[in-house]
Amino acid sequence: MIYRGKHIYLRTITPDDFNLIKQWENNPGNWKVSSTTHPFTDEQIFDFVNSNQDIYEHEQLRLIICLTDNNKVIGNVDLFNFEPLHKRVGIGILIDEPHRNKGYAKQAILLTEEYCKLILNINKIFCNILEDNTYSIKLFTTLGYKKICTKPKWHFYNNQWFDEGFYLKRF
Ligand SMILES: CC(C)(COP(=O)(O)OP(=O)(O)OC[C@H]1O[C@@H](n2cnc3c(N)ncnc32)[C@H](O)[C@@H]1OP(=O)(O)O)[C@@H](O)C(=O)NCCC(=O)NCCS
Repeated sequence: MIYRGKHIYLRTITPDDFNLIKQWENNPGNWKVSSTTHPFTDEQIFDFVNSNQDIYEHEQLRLIICLTDNNKVIGNVDLFNFEPLHKRVGIGILIDEPHRNKGYAKQAILLTEEYCKLILNINKIFCNILEDNTYSIKLFTTLGYKKICTKPKWHFYNNQWFDEGFYLKRF
């Protein structure tokens, strides 16, 4: 699957993305937001990139964000807890550091929303954002996500508790 925007496009994972996924998943710098506590094995990553990427089967879908100009990979969008009956899905996003603050996350989320509405037929998207993640809060609230509640001391990382906000956008 390929979903095209002006400056970026979204595509599904292929087996060739093994090193890319390994680099993201096993980078401790990303573990605070991904809730990862230890590296994935090569076998787990191999199975993941070789799986059929069917959101109806796995209830989740990873989309790779690429630049339209040169096909360079700059990040990924994660759709999770997809529940077609309730027409809802969760969203998470990561943009590689050198490409941040250029509007790419915004574009990627708007494209993903279009895909969710038109193809998955959902009517709401939610996300969980740690209360100290200022840029992510700015990103999602600017795009119309409303904070529903704070989950106090919800997330444990590096021996410390963090509050987490639950954000929702209805279409
Ligand atoms: C959060 C994240 C996805 C934002 O990606 P991005 O491509 O830099 O975001 P955008 O460029 O689309 O900017 C979104 C908003 O945040 C602001 N912003 C982003 N980075 C900023 C920075 N370094 N300084 C000031 N503002 C910043 C932008 O100005 C923009 O606000 P605006 O709508 O008022 O213009 C990125 O920082 C990231 O990958 N962080 C690590 C993973 C993470 O926290 N993911 C979210 C989990 S819910």
